[in-house]
Amino acid sequence: MALVFGTANKKSIAWAVAKRLSQSGAKIVLTYQDPRLEGNVLPLAAELPDCIPCKCDLTVEEDVAAVFKLVEEKYGRLDILIHSVAYALREDLDRRFLDTSQEGFRIAQTVSAYTLVAAARGALPLMEKAGGGSILAMTYHGSERVIPNYNVMGVSKAALEACVRYLAADLGPMNIRVNALSPGPLNTLAARGITGLLTMLKYFRERAPLRRNTDLEEVADTALFFSSDLSRGITGEVLYVDCGYHITGM
Ligand SMILES: NC(=O)c1ccc[n+]([C@@H]2O[C@H](COP(=O)([O-])OP(=O)(O)OC[C@H]3O[C@@H](n4cnc5c(N)ncnc54)[C@H](O)[C@@H]3O)[C@@H](O)[C@H]2O)c1
Repeated sequence: MALVFGTANKKSIAWAVAKRLSQSGAKIVLTYQDPRLEGNVLPLAAELPDCIPCKCDLTVEEDVAAVFKLVEEKYGRLDILIHSVAYALREDLDRRFLDTSQEGFRIAQTVSAYTLVAAARGALPLMEKAGGGSILAMTYHGSERVIPNYNVMGVSKAALEACVRYLAADLGPMNIRVNALSPGPLNTLAARGITGLLTMLKYFRERAPLRRNTDLEEVADTALFFSSDLSRGITGEVLYVDCGYHITGM
């Protein structure tokens, strides 16, 4: 049974992962942040067998409690949690990082990093009932390297990756693994908020060792690996799915 956070539309990484997990037999609870996304997400949920859509803003405690209550009542356990959620103020993604406001910093950290902690806490009792589980977050190379305009989101991804390691240490004794994927740039709703995305995609195609952009399906396939017992010895890890881009220096 898989709980997937972060579907906004059919281009979302969360949706690609939900489809892949469903094809492999998982029952899915597919959450969306806001009722305004229902028009996109409800038809997608209807495409999958055994898929329940559910509104959940991960910064709202009542929403988080309600989604885990739903999973408990319906399935009594949780095996897989996918966190594919991030947000920063638009103005913080196209000016100097130096000018980030305290409020912009707080929002980016809360939505993009802290929500993983809140989700993991909600998952714990249900994963314990399942005898263990896998929690997977989505990060980006801007956590380690300066990417133009990624700014406060890069700092939030650094925090997210640190959260992955601390959560992995806390939850490992309960056989719950916590990892992150770091995909190369993909043309999704969130990515379109970053000034210069198309230039970034072109640059990436020219420089990545595999000489192409990352595609959603390969991210979803790697998410399936982390969600399955094939990755049972791996926790606290960040794995790049970026056609090798991050190994290059020039
Ligand atoms: N697209 C890329 O190039 C790329 C690359 C690496 C990592 N990522 C990461 O992948 C994840 C998914 O992004 P995406 O590219 O699929 O874009 P997306 O816009 O489709 O997904 C982002 C999701 O976050 C959700 N969200 C924002 N605030 C939320 C909140 N308070 N509660 C619940 N959900 C909330 C949005 O509703 C949306 O569904 C993000 O963490 C993003 O940083 C994206």
